[in-house]
Amino acid sequence: MLLSGLTTSLDVLALETWAPGTARQVLAVEPAGVPARSDADAPRAVLRLANISLSFGGLAALRDVDLDVAQGEIRAVIGPNGAGKSSLLNVISGLYRADQGEVWFGDHAFRQVPTASLAHHGVARTFQNLALFKGLSVFDNVLMGLAHRVRAGFIRQLVGSPLARRIEAENRAAAEEVIGFLHLGDIRDRIAGTLPYGLQKRVELARALVARPKLLLLDEPFAGVTVSEKQELAQHVRGARDRYGTTIVLIEHDIGIVMELSDHIAVLDYGRKIADGPPAEIRANQAVIDAYLGVAHEDETELAI
Ligand SMILES: Nc1ncnc2c1ncn2[C@@H]1O[C@H](COP(=O)(O)OP(=O)(O)O)[C@@H](O)[C@H]1O
Ligand SMILES: [Mg+2]
Repeated sequence: MLLSGLTTSLDVLALETWAPGTARQVLAVEPAGVPARSDADAPRAVLRLANISLSFGGLAALRDVDLDVAQGEIRAVIGPNGAGKSSLLNVISGLYRADQGEVWFGDHAFRQVPTASLAHHGVARTFQNLALFKGLSVFDNVLMGLAHRVRAGFIRQLVGSPLARRIEAENRAAAEEVIGFLHLGDIRDRIAGTLPYGLQKRVELARALVARPKLLLLDEPFAGVTVSEKQELAQHVRGARDRYGTTIVLIEHDIGIVMELSDHIAVLDYGRKIADGPPAEIRANQAVIDAYLGVAHEDETELAI
């Protein structure tokens, strides 16, 4: 009963009410792992985190976190407020520098990812709070997702040249394509700031997708949208993976959506990864259940000592 009710339980227990303390002892059982290197012929992870640790002053936001994300998967990262989810995304996107460990995009390893060249490594992200150009049209916002492709000075030199016209035409075609795919055609000329919030979120998704990123990082893409908008957006996120083969790392509080959408779910608590697996496994994982429900098992507590 507990297992089948977990989704509901997690929804009901606002994650902020996560009971600390007891769960922490369970976590200590989890060894600080070294990532299992995949076999030479296994498909290379699009994203790999190896032993990532990050502290702010004395506070450990991330502790020895490993993560392997395969091509084309939707990977959710869940956990209560303060668990380290945004920090993890910020390390992946270069906003934070890990104290220890490495971030790999395919064959490229970084201690700190160079944010400026993120797009060149095929990585795009959306932010927890909307980051649209509110005064620009939907179409122009989407086009901005391609701004990194050519440096502004270079474009100025080229103005009016056949090459500039070709780049412009290709960019506009890419923007039209993703606008069509996400059903934004009817509002392509509307000013983004005047649209309902859920639609703005969809425009943000379009802007992140227009460059066809290999890896898309979504920090709470469904926060603040209505229930029906949420379902719609979730379908678009899945659609993006299916259509473009985009690998997606998703932070999300709504456990129902996470269970529905993800191929794998990583669970963070106090900056440590306590579980990682397909939804059914996470749903049945005793450490996750204990952590979410704030229950410590005596035997596990003893093991931790
Ligand atoms: N820039 C920062 N400066 C100081 N502490 C931070 C900073 N970013 C995150 N933290 C701290 O790190 C911990 C993890 O935060 P965060 O990654 O935002 O968690 P989540 O996204 O899971 O809610 C929290 O205790 C938070 O206060
Ligand atoms: Mg966060």
